[in-house]
Amino acid sequence: MAASPMADESPHKLNTNTSASTQKADYSHRTRDAALGKTDFTWLTTTGNNNQNFLLGLRATSDTSRPAQIMGAIYSQFFVTPSLPSTRFTSKTVIVTGSNTGLGLAAARHFAELDAARLILAVRNVAAGEAAKKSILESLVPTETANDTAAPIDIQVWPLDLASYASVVALSARAATELDRIDVLLCNAGVYTQRFRLAEQDELSITVNVVSTFLLVLTLLPKLCTTAGTFATEQHVSAVTSELHAWAPLPERLAPEGQIFAMLSDPEVAEKVMAHRYDVSKLLQVLVVRALAERMTRKKMPGVLNMLTPGFCWTEIARESYGMGIKIAYAIMARTADAGSRTLVRAARAGRQSHGCYMADGEVVEDGKSMGVSKFVRSEEGRAVQERVWGELKAKLDGIRAGATEVVG
Ligand SMILES: NC(=O)c1ccc[n+]([C@@H]2O[C@H](COP(=O)([O-])OP(=O)(O)OC[C@H]3O[C@@H](n4cnc5c(N)ncnc54)[C@H](OP(=O)(O)O)[C@@H]3O)[C@@H](O)[C@H]2O)c1
Repeated sequence: MAASPMADESPHKLNTNTSASTQKADYSHRTRDAALGKTDFTWLTTTGNNNQNFLLGLRATSDTSRPAQIMGAIYSQFFVTPSLPSTRFTSKTVIVTGSNTGLGLAAARHFAELDAARLILAVRNVAAGEAAKKSILESLVPTETANDTAAPIDIQVWPLDLASYASVVALSARAATELDRIDVLLCNAGVYTQRFRLAEQDELSITVNVVSTFLLVLTLLPKLCTTAGTFATEQHVSAVTSELHAWAPLPERLAPEGQIFAMLSDPEVAEKVMAHRYDVSKLLQVLVVRALAERMTRKKMPGVLNMLTPGFCWTEIARESYGMGIKIAYAIMARTADAGSRTLVRAARAGRQSHGCYMADGEVVEDGKSMGVSKFVRSEEGRAVQERVWGELKAKLDGIRAGATEVVG
């Protein structure tokens, strides 16, 4: 049988184990749908022998077989306690998303203890944000060396719901007019869910953890850049990702050009992979940070954009699936939120050498080292997927707010 004319055009060549006839059926289906501009991904879930395309897609991005990754994570959980940065945040304005609880609240407390001048708690529940503000203020103990004339920290609670584009754009507009400077943007807020729901254009975790998170970054970047120029300082944007990015299967990378996000939000496809959706959202964060950092460097933009894993920490992140298994795992190996949050604060003070990099235990991890970004992220295919994801995200962000990505070109 003649090979499918489309087979050679596959950028990923993942069908080597499937029969030629299956490949032909799959690709012609795919081409037809693409030609019709149709968002129908049933070809991925219902064609092939035992859905081989889908199974291959599930496997190929996951690094679960990488012992170094697993051993590194176990060592870090049991034997490493991250430390705080040695330099303070004196006179700096710091924004922390999702700072009413968990790692965000613990990090905000550290910023306050480390002399930040202004702290913006960007939260979706303002009452919980006000309670967090009160608890931070109450925990600030005056030190013997404290200067009585020093201005007290200014803590403000601002509403931010990352499930709503309007809320993100409103926060950025407010920051542009009300803040004279932004030194740190800590993108901490995140959701873990295995239940498929749409929010705005995409599945909820993709909207919250990826689209809105980077909408916030890009709409605040101009202010961060002017801060660097006006105050001659190095500003930081840090994204809280996870080592689970290395466990993320991404069959959606087989989607036709321009359809990765559409496929991620197709209920028929998603229902088969929602168990891994959080990991996928973290993988997308890693890819986008790398893509964005490269563009910032090319444009010679000041400042640092980095990402980090806090390790496995006892917080409310698993609130939707808080079963016995997770409780035991927390009890055996989780860090406290306070210990994990130190990695966030370290990233927000890390030098230019951390730009575009992934940090674990508060340190930059070089590509290829245990605890670093996954093999898939570093691969040729990973890079191609990175560029496709960035291209789709860029179009999405510019559609949400005209010119949102202009700052990086
Ligand atoms: N804990 C871990 O082991 C671990 C490991 C790796 C990475 N992380 C990452 O660390 C970050 C912080 O998580 P955590 O562990 O501290 O969990 P958490 O205690 O559940 O805190 C998550 C924060 O995100 C906020 N959030 C959720 N959806 C939001 C939305 N639509 N708009 C605005 N804020 C929203 C939550 O607000 P509400 O309280 O209002 O829901 C909360 O403030 C997340 O990005 C998570 O993925 C955690």
